[in-house]
Amino acid sequence: MLSLDLFTEHRYVLAVVLFFTIYHVVTHLRYALAARKLNCKPLPDRTLAFWGIPLFFKALKLKKEGRMIDYSKERFDTTGLDTFKFRIAGMRLFTTRDPENIKAMLATQFNDFGLGARHDQLFPFLGDGIFTLDGNGWKHSRAMLRPQFAREQVAHLSSLEPHVQLLKKHIQNTKGGKFEIQELFFKLTVDSATEFLFGESVSSLADETVVNNYYESINFDGKKGFAEAFNTTQKYLSTRLLAQRLYWIFDSKKFRDYCARVHKFSDYYVQKALDASPQELEEKGKDGYIFLYELVKETRNRKVLRDQLLNILLAGRDTTASLLSFAFFEMARNQQIWKKLRKEIDENFSLGDNVDLDLITFESLKKCEYLKAIINETLRLYPSVPHNSRIATKDTSLPRGGGEDGQSPVFIPKGQTVTYAVSSMHRSKRYYGEDAEVFRPERWLSGETKKVGWAYLPFNGGPRICLGQQFALTEAGYVISRLAQIFPNLSSFDDEYPPRKSSHLTMCLQDGVNISLS
Ligand code: HEM
Ligand SMILES: *[C@@H]1O[C@H](CO)[C@@H](O)[C@H](O)[C@H]1NC(C)=O
Ligand SMILES: *[C@@H]1O[C@H](CO)[C@@H](O)[C@H](O)[C@H]1NC(C)=O
Ligand SMILES: *[C@@H]1O[C@H](CO)[C@@H](O)[C@H](O)[C@H]1NC(C)=O
Ligand SMILES: *[C@@H]1O[C@H](CO)[C@@H](O)[C@H](O)[C@H]1NC(C)=O
Ligand SMILES: *[C@@H]1O[C@H](CO)[C@@H](O)[C@H](O)[C@H]1NC(C)=O
Repeated sequence: MLSLDLFTEHRYVLAVVLFFTIYHVVTHLRYALAARKLNCKPLPDRTLAFWGIPLFFKALKLKKEGRMIDYSKERFDTTGLDTFKFRIAGMRLFTTRDPENIKAMLATQFNDFGLGARHDQLFPFLGDGIFTLDGNGWKHSRAMLRPQFAREQVAHLSSLEPHVQLLKKHIQNTKGGKFEIQELFFKLTVDSATEFLFGESVSSLADETVVNNYYESINFDGKKGFAEAFNTTQKYLSTRLLAQRLYWIFDSKKFRDYCARVHKFSDYYVQKALDASPQELEEKGKDGYIFLYELVKETRNRKVLRDQLLNILLAGRDTTASLLSFAFFEMARNQQIWKKLRKEIDENFSLGDNVDLDLITFESLKKCEYLKAIINETLRLYPSVPHNSRIATKDTSLPRGGGEDGQSPVFIPKGQTVTYAVSSMHRSKRYYGEDAEVFRPERWLSGETKKVGWAYLPFNGGPRICLGQQFALTEAGYVISRLAQIFPNLSSFDDEYPPRKSSHLTMCLQDGVNISLS
């Protein structure tokens, strides 16, 4: 009896082993054939011990310590490879910082790659929006949103000034002492983004320390707690992205509740816009450009409106706050850069608190070469989206990384995730020279970056290039110029360099930016 059981069991095990062996061999052969057809050579495998299981725990630890981004760059340097494959927790990943490969994924072979599971990972919060869709849904979203980012719409700088005034009050309350500015930048960007998108700011900078009669004048239902709920949902979302195909494990009533709070907040505005008559919509458009009111002219579908608004709010808020924070982090450590910037601002817009704000425009900001160089250099060392990925939608290849010299194409099987590390590419000596790790805005003025091409990619490239680039550069340029006008003295209180960086969906300074401004 027993032996019979064992016998059938053995047969069963044997069948399974046989099946997987055949499956493995067939897959291998299929890949080898496809690879040959595409002229590919093998991609070096740099898997660390035990199928990358210890690496997974190391990654968690590094992420917590704010060292993940630095470690990733170190791996490219120590392997001496710009493209390689490895396993993390047994999962096979391809990774690259080669501009040729990134260009292929994002532009020349755009249709061979997609977002993979991103839609399902982010769905509870973002629904169907430009950020989560592939294919026709994405095309449609992009076509609908693009007109909203035309130059005239983005050039509305006067709506930024009230937020800058509140920021100024917060800073003046520190009386020249040390304070943490990143938190204030997060509030500033969520305030200005909600105003631009919803037509009414969440006014998170307007608290009792800077506004008289705060409680009477500003609160209304649904607004309180929005910024916090928006923040918390993002932490969940970044974990779901990290978990790749196992994203569904990271779900909970709390996560759904936070999502619901954010949805309720935006639904309030969507309803308001839907209730407005065509004449009212025209009127609203006159006192300043409002994204939602323009979008209502394109579609009246409530869910579409909400999803697109939240997608853009997510894309636009933390990225710009991150740019401003890193810029002040670096400028505070480099007095000569701050002085040189103030000189340029003085020549173009003059200094002080009593200045003609009409001088600062979309066009005049573009003429401030040093300001632009500071912004470029900040996004080089600290790209707001340091790591990103695409998934092959069919068997395909990438142009570089194969063979001994890494110059041959490599085979990418359908379903394979390829991560690309813009942050590591931006710090590569191959493109930026020996001082690639140094913050030096002058490199953008001397002609030495003329030929970097796809090796500089803070806003992505190809058909999915960032829609908000001009908006972000204008907002950041305005805020930096205004602070440089108002405050002559900037000092740093942060000793640690390079700084710890946390990377959820976007990157920011893990411990904030301690400075003084007076
Ligand atoms: C410094 C600021 C910013 C940086 C560095 C940045 C960077 C990026 C990057 C890297 C992507 C590509 C994401 C991907 O395809 O995986 C992207 C997409 C996008 N960004 Fe930005 N962004 C910034 C600010 C903004 C702002 C302010 C807005 C809107 C107000 C915005 C709107 C968008 C939209 C709508 C997309 C999706 C485009 C598409 O998939 O077709 N961004 N951005
Ligand atoms: C949101 O998160 C950022 C970074 O994690 C933090 O600096 C900020 O204070 C948070 N804001 C709110 C309103 O919780
Ligand atoms: C603005 O600054 C740039 C660079 O410093 C300078 O060349 C230019 O003359 C200034 N523009 C005006 C109108 O002063
Ligand atoms: C900043 O980088 C962009 C490329 O994204 C380039 O076109 C521009 O000329 C650079 N600005 C300066 C001041 O070098
Ligand atoms: C900034 O100061 C706060 C409070 O004093 C501290 O907790 C934080 O670690 C400091 N950040 C950095 C980067 O030193
Ligand atoms: C800026 O620093 C200088 C030199 O340390 C000092 O004389 C001046 O009073 C400071 N200005 C302000 C507004 O604090």
